[in-house]
Amino acid sequence: MNLIQNTTELALYVCEKYIRKDGIAVDGTCGRGKDTLWLAERCRKVYSFDIQRKALASAEELLRENNIGFSYENDDSAVMLINDSHEKIEEYVELSPCVIMFNLGFLPGGNKEITTSLQSTMAALKTSLKILDTGGILCVTIYPGHKEGLKEKKAILKWAESLDKSVFHCVYADMLNQTDKAPQILWITKKKQII
Ligand SMILES: C[S@@+](CC[C@H](N)C(=O)[O-])C[C@H]1O[C@@H](n2cnc3c(N)ncnc32)[C@H](O)[C@@H]1O
Repeated sequence: MNLIQNTTELALYVCEKYIRKDGIAVDGTCGRGKDTLWLAERCRKVYSFDIQRKALASAEELLRENNIGFSYENDDSAVMLINDSHEKIEEYVELSPCVIMFNLGFLPGGNKEITTSLQSTMAALKTSLKILDTGGILCVTIYPGHKEGLKEKKAILKWAESLDKSVFHCVYADMLNQTDKAPQILWITKKKQII
């Protein structure tokens, strides 16, 4: 596989290095559940958010096919599916995740009007850095090819550039010779807890 040609694989390749088998992870944008499944195969527990019931129904199917236990309650299941906005991460996730992932934009094959949006994305990313474990990673895949995605990209990069360098380390991947619609990835690792 050509790693730098495939944004999704590149994002996951880096995240894999931060996974702790006994750790917990968050998928801020469950969609059809591919990232949730990937995380569930590697971590103790995944909390997976989506505002669309339809998306979670597809994810349920994928998890079932792969024999991964899930629940809409916070019980012993490998995955907790949460039909709520990722802004509310702190209301559901009590422990510090080693990996938090966001794949922004709209549901593939779904309603393109229902997309992640600037205000809730920014709130969710800020909370994510607060709850992220030391040594953990936040990974955001950004799609600047649509109007809301471009707004998200600008705000996210401005915010990431302003983060305290003694606490966070930010890396950004842009496919330089592709169209300006190509997805981009931001990884942020937390070097120490904020006192
Ligand atoms: C690009 S898709 C995610 C794809 C997914 N990672 C996969 O593997 O299929 C983005 C998802 O974010 C969801 N979404 C949009 N706004 C949200 C919010 N505020 N909180 C949680 N999910 C949201 C959409 O419903 C959509 O399913």
